[in-house]
Amino acid sequence: MATKTSFAQSNSQLSLQDAEERLLGEFLQPAGYKGLYGFHKYWGKKPAECVSFLIESLSKEGDLIVDPFIGHGTIAREALARGRRIIGGDLNPAAIAITRLLVKPPAARALQDALNEIEKKTRIEIEDSYQTSGGIASHFLWDDEMLLEVWSKGSSRQLDKGPATDDDAADALSWNSYHAQLLRPLALFNNGRINTRSNFSWPDLFCGRAIRNIELLYSAILEYPTEIRNALLCILTSSVGQMSKMVFAISNRGGNTKGPKTEVGSWVIGYWRPKLHFEINAWNCFSNKAGKLIKSLNSRGLSRHEYVTDASQIDEVVQKRQSCAVVNSDAVQLLSGLGDDTVDLIVTDPPHGDRIPYLELSEMWNAILGQSAVFESELVVSDAKNRNKNEVAYEYGLGKILSLMCDKIKSEGLIAIMFNASIEESWSALASFDTRLNFAGAFPMAYSSGSVVQDNRAGSLKHDYVLIYTKGSNSHHMPFLESIPGWTCKLPSPQI
Ligand SMILES: C[S@@+](CC[C@H](N)C(=O)[O-])C[C@H]1O[C@@H](n2cnc3c(N)ncnc32)[C@H](O)[C@@H]1O
Repeated sequence: MATKTSFAQSNSQLSLQDAEERLLGEFLQPAGYKGLYGFHKYWGKKPAECVSFLIESLSKEGDLIVDPFIGHGTIAREALARGRRIIGGDLNPAAIAITRLLVKPPAARALQDALNEIEKKTRIEIEDSYQTSGGIASHFLWDDEMLLEVWSKGSSRQLDKGPATDDDAADALSWNSYHAQLLRPLALFNNGRINTRSNFSWPDLFCGRAIRNIELLYSAILEYPTEIRNALLCILTSSVGQMSKMVFAISNRGGNTKGPKTEVGSWVIGYWRPKLHFEINAWNCFSNKAGKLIKSLNSRGLSRHEYVTDASQIDEVVQKRQSCAVVNSDAVQLLSGLGDDTVDLIVTDPPHGDRIPYLELSEMWNAILGQSAVFESELVVSDAKNRNKNEVAYEYGLGKILSLMCDKIKSEGLIAIMFNASIEESWSALASFDTRLNFAGAFPMAYSSGSVVQDNRAGSLKHDYVLIYTKGSNSHHMPFLESIPGWTCKLPSPQI
């Protein structure tokens, strides 16, 4: 068990007990997503404090950690910051783009230079499209296809809000004849739970003006070399939600007595397009997000790490010639490419049954990245009937992956799986696992207090569990983990 050594190594100035208590305290009550971790709204991302607690508790410096479902990539950054080697994979190109940004962010100065150039190339043209009788508009309030209000930045800090004129409406509607020229078509499914249809196209989600402006930004971004381009594309994917028809309007909040008041909401998980919605100036959305990223780069604490990107190169990390791999790959393929008994720790967070259909939700981002996701390989239970992603296939897939994980960890290695699901069947693979594995125990893991919606349905789960498995007949004594509040030797049952 690595706990004692690693705590001592990384916190030499603190007493062992203080360090353990601090980490445990942060694990139990993680703060909101800060800096780089707050920049992109990736689905189901885990709090940095929880991830770093697991790394510190379950591995030591120099160890090889694998996460085949790396998602937002927090674990890759936290592992590198603690001197571990990390091999991360994900089927979702959007997840890989964000993980690569986290592992090797560009220098703030270089990104700022690129943003200044992009501003010179695109801003005037974009803002021209928002020119109204009251100046350059920042927001348009729509009721379906009817333009109600136009807001613009006035001389004071307040927004000038007024009813739309006939000219504003005619101009706004004239953009609806614009069709995407650079962005590939969307590939979605009939899925009522996330409000999609298989024939969805860009105009279902964005008005023509936003599509044109996204394409202007996209073509300017494509001119940059890989690292800067990836960061710029992440800015674009993280800002398009606010450019879409999915930004709801909040009416009359707080029982306003001075008449109706409308505030700008946000877009939420799923492709819900509210009748009353905002169209927001695309330049403002893009530059706000860019500003957030630059700010977080200025305060970043991780030195720059090279990483390998191809599945055929992961051995470089196993052999200690590189410290990191971030591969766009199916978990089965990634794990199969590793030698048996080579991994010290697998810490991962597979999709939790039907909770979040990652690839369907990320389709908008992947189309903007110019990449296609391999939907057939996704480990998920989806309400999209023609995907055939049901509980049986999910249980079989997860069981297979757990077996592969068992092959790959060393005899003294560990597997930590973050999980929760309200449907009993989703737990099956974790309960009736490969007989070479021992289930050691589990403990609850909080969501971040600033967490985005974890589930989009009523009765959503309130926390996850960390399930610990060991290999073979090794029974590890883990006094520290066993002292975590809520530790249990029984597999948790589905609960909310
Ligand atoms: C629960 S999320 C991981 C979240 C991550 N721990 C974080 O903090 O952001 C699960 C991830 O598994 C990915 N995924 C789904 N099926 C996969 C597969 N067959 N192989 C690899 N990744 C897959 C999804 O794209 C998603 O990013």
